[in-house]
Amino acid sequence: MTGFDAVGAAYTAHSAGARGRLRHDLVERRLLAELPDRPCRILDVGCGSGEMTLRLASAGHRVTGADPSARMLAAAAGRLATRPRLSARVRWLRADIEELPLGGRRFDLVCCHGVLMYLDEPGAAMARLTGLVAPGGLLSVLAKNRHAIGVREALRGDRATARRLIESGADRSVGNLEVATRGDTAEELDRLAARYGLVPLPWQGVRIFHDHLDDSWSPTPAAYTEALELEWAASWRSPHRDLGHLVHTLARRPPCA
Ligand SMILES: C[S@@+](CC[C@H](N)C(=O)[O-])C[C@H]1O[C@@H](n2cnc3c(N)ncnc32)[C@H](O)[C@@H]1O
Repeated sequence: MTGFDAVGAAYTAHSAGARGRLRHDLVERRLLAELPDRPCRILDVGCGSGEMTLRLASAGHRVTGADPSARMLAAAAGRLATRPRLSARVRWLRADIEELPLGGRRFDLVCCHGVLMYLDEPGAAMARLTGLVAPGGLLSVLAKNRHAIGVREALRGDRATARRLIESGADRSVGNLEVATRGDTAEELDRLAARYGLVPLPWQGVRIFHDHLDDSWSPTPAAYTEALELEWAASWRSPHRDLGHLVHTLARRPPCA
């Protein structure tokens, strides 16, 4: 049983709420803007309950969702079963990032969202992920933002914890699922992508002004749209983006000459 077998239901519930949806909507918007206008081959590493896998398949792409947690994959398969028109475009693979049984396959987009924070360091994962990107293809990494550790705690009023995290320059904090997770910086992820031959694209900060809300936040549709557009506008711009709870980095492998 992986750690996520135990917390999977809590994560699925978080993803369904407005605060979880904000993150998925922002990331999906960027990916659809960057992808070419044709069906692409996509790998979603650490796909969890399949939120982005299914969104990308709905957009017409062929997506493999990989995750080591049997429970997360079962949840993902259950969601796919309710949308049979997508089934020909989606495959599930039970595998850890360290042992992806993909032979020599390469993808137009490799996603790794919300996974690096559970690993001790990002270097080995970035080496594997970049190696799976086809010429002209993209790597999309969504990671916890190390620069923003302590911001959520401060805005929630837990000043003592926030001060301790900020003064110590902590690289991890307790996340949504009550598990301590590690932060990365966009600069370091871009540097690693470049080391393996990819060209970094502008990165975005994700969930800047709404991260400290809890999962009971339930805005009206109009208020949700306002929140989404505010987050999107700020996500590109420093200093706002530097305070996003997550960073979304993208990098492209140059096409073959
Ligand atoms: C926070 S969930 C994110 C799920 C999904 N990518 C998303 O953004 O909604 C983290 C997922 O990473 C998976 N995971 C944890 N360690 C992993 C590893 N070493 N290799 C691949 N996936 C891993 C977990 O099983 C879990 O499903």
